[in-house]
Amino acid sequence: PVLVVDFGAQYAQLIARRVREANVYSEIVPHSMPVAEMLAKDPAAIILSGGPSSVYEPGAPQLDAGVLDTDVPVFGICYGFQAMAQTLGGTVAHTGAREYGRTSLTPAADPGVLLRALPADLPVWMSHGDSVVEAPAGFSVTASSPGAPVAAFENLPARRAGVQFHPEVLHTEQGQTMLTRFLYDIAGIEPTWTSSNIIDEQVAAIRSVVGDKQVICGLSGGVDSAVAAALVHRAVGDQLTCIFVDHGLLRAGEAEQVEKDYVAATGIRLKVVDASERFLGALDGVTDPERKRKIIGREFIRVFEQAAREVDAERDVEFLVQGTLYPDVVESGGGTGTANIKSHHNVGGLPDDLQFSLIEPLRTLFKDEVRALGTQLGLPDEMVQRHPFPGPGLAIRIIGAVSRERLDVLRQADLIAREELTAAGLDRDVWQFPVVLLADVRSVGVQGDGRTYGHPVVLRPVSSEDAMTADWSRLPFDLIARISNRITNEVAEINRVVLDVTSKPPGTIEWE
Ligand code: XMP
Repeated sequence: PVLVVDFGAQYAQLIARRVREANVYSEIVPHSMPVAEMLAKDPAAIILSGGPSSVYEPGAPQLDAGVLDTDVPVFGICYGFQAMAQTLGGTVAHTGAREYGRTSLTPAADPGVLLRALPADLPVWMSHGDSVVEAPAGFSVTASSPGAPVAAFENLPARRAGVQFHPEVLHTEQGQTMLTRFLYDIAGIEPTWTSSNIIDEQVAAIRSVVGDKQVICGLSGGVDSAVAAALVHRAVGDQLTCIFVDHGLLRAGEAEQVEKDYVAATGIRLKVVDASERFLGALDGVTDPERKRKIIGREFIRVFEQAAREVDAERDVEFLVQGTLYPDVVESGGGTGTANIKSHHNVGGLPDDLQFSLIEPLRTLFKDEVRALGTQLGLPDEMVQRHPFPGPGLAIRIIGAVSRERLDVLRQADLIAREELTAAGLDRDVWQFPVVLLADVRSVGVQGDGRTYGHPVVLRPVSSEDAMTADWSRLPFDLIARISNRITNEVAEINRVVLDVTSKPPGTIEWE
């Protein structure tokens, strides 16, 4: 792998993704990892990421000089660039010329490999207080910027290079070109990290771990569990049984999609548990959002556990598949543990006494890679490109108590909004498009010649990259008008459609 050494800024994940976009496998490791441990991973290159603003800051994470004693190709970015310069005998100084945000890069007369034939005055994204003022011996300076006399350097025989700016951010035009040139042209790495190679590797790994044992997987209807299961199925076929709990809080067509489309595309053995009576019974009259969530979580575990025991009784199951993704692994401090298979249970609130070993085939992947894998595995587009949908389902999109009638009303409105968004070709421009029923609110309207006294629904289209922050989507007004017309005409109980124009923060994406 290419190791991305994390110096504690938020850029390491982005760098790792960009490396993978260049079809090269990358892993994030903490800067505290001993060099011997890094070398044990047989790195094709090491990238030192950005970090705190100054190498002089007390407590600033130190670069283990040993990294630069090896003959592994190294690329330094921002803080990593300065740390590299300092360790190799260059000079880093407080010049007082800080640069934050966009600035322009001037390639040197000899722009080297990284900046070869790129335009002058290239917009790049900087974030630094200190500057490298003198490159280490053996390095040629290939660019400068108004605030950084040495903004890029490289040493081809040593297969090392560095840049003061952030090539991984989109604001740096040509950033991906430079990163790719480091990987291919300086470090000499072959671009072999592709969906089909990932599938081959994972299939082999899963086969060798599972042997002839039985496996179960809980499907949520979301992309991650769907792709994880498809991958495991590719590896062990009928030794896999999937469990899908229909809690009655799904959108129109979702249970059918899992039952029909998914099975048709994969041939997976599926056990569908219709538990809607049970969930709706437990939710009867409950209006508090947190109570709704707790009840749904609790019932879900009970139903899943029961179903898993039934499968287990028949088939003697040893493994449970989970769709854990790389960001979860990195965020929970397990950035180094990129093994595909972990031998213990108790994830996602599943009970301790479900004694299965865990298979997490997506543990090294980002969401967009999971989608690419799903496509490669032959899953239908509607499944792979699906918008995220919360586990508690429509229950947290009905403001007020949940009932079958209210769910039916919301399902109709939600389906119309989704149909129109798709027809407008805007599915990919929107992260998620909740429709929320204000079930305890009524307003007066007029339809035909008569007075109505119906409920409002809220349209909540949002744009986001990771759901941590979001903005309301500026959908075309004619699309919103079409959705509003259709909902008020086709759904009898709804006589008003409103648009939520709140970003996150201060709002959350969901209303509860
Ligand atoms: P909020 O509403 O907190 O949502 O801005 C952020 C993202 O998480 C989804 N979400 C959930 N997903 N179980 C889930 O699996 C939940 O309980 C849950 N609550 C919110 C939400 O749809 C959005 O994508």
